[in-house]
Amino acid sequence: MTQENQDRWSAVDRYITDRLVPADEALTAALAASDTADLPAIAVAPNQGKLLHLLAQVQGARTVLEIGTLGGYSTIWLARALPAEGRLISLEYSPAHAEVARANLAHAGLDKIVEVRTGAALQTLPKLATEPGVGPFDLVFIDADKENNPRYVEWALKLTRPGSVIIVDNAVRGGAVVDADNTNPAIVGTREMYELVAREPRLSATAVQTVGTKGYDGFLLARVVA
Ligand code: SAH
Ligand code: DHB
Ligand code: MG
Repeated sequence: MTQENQDRWSAVDRYITDRLVPADEALTAALAASDTADLPAIAVAPNQGKLLHLLAQVQGARTVLEIGTLGGYSTIWLARALPAEGRLISLEYSPAHAEVARANLAHAGLDKIVEVRTGAALQTLPKLATEPGVGPFDLVFIDADKENNPRYVEWALKLTRPGSVIIVDNAVRGGAVVDADNTNPAIVGTREMYELVAREPRLSATAVQTVGTKGYDGFLLARVVA
């Protein structure tokens, strides 16, 4: 990827966002607060956040599970797609990230429907699964540590129902997903995630490559069919 390519992708993201994703006080404040708190700038881009929002609406989602909260930017996009009685649970490893996210969600007026749970998701997911009244989720957004993506998809299957949607962010990673001898755990995990989805008869899935402010990446979209 040349710098020229990246500049062009960023310019087109700006063009799209200027027209279709109007500036919004709570979302802008969430990114500013995340930056002030030194969180990494790896939230979904605005036009990707809007895509998550639209997918949740198209799905008619009332319950959402997110794995990987960061400062709650994608959380705000998803939660705003839910009805007043909707519920979103977001799992975050870092207590510092979770604290920033909770403040951002409160500022966005979403603290009634969103709960941020702290801990390693592989610890908090089994607990979540035993709680009465939690799940099945209508939509699951997986966006945490990529090496655990196969495990997260397995948990998403346990916590959903036929008709639910599972979205996995960062499913292309600059094209590294095709490098069979790449030993980076994030790439190994991503490739294992594809193999798992491919052989899982309960999932119908595709993945789409994307370019933009966040470089060259992509997402996987799966529908639980049985
Ligand atoms: N979804 C966010 C970005 C998430 S970045 C957005 O688009 O706005 C990935 C997040 O996953 C980070 O905050 C990181 O701390 C968290 N994370 C990493 N490992 C994790 C784990 N094992 N369990 C839960 N969260 C984890
Ligand atoms: C990283 C994580 C993400 O979720 C993302 O969208 C981009 C980058 C990362 O860990 O580098
Ligand atoms: Mg991501």
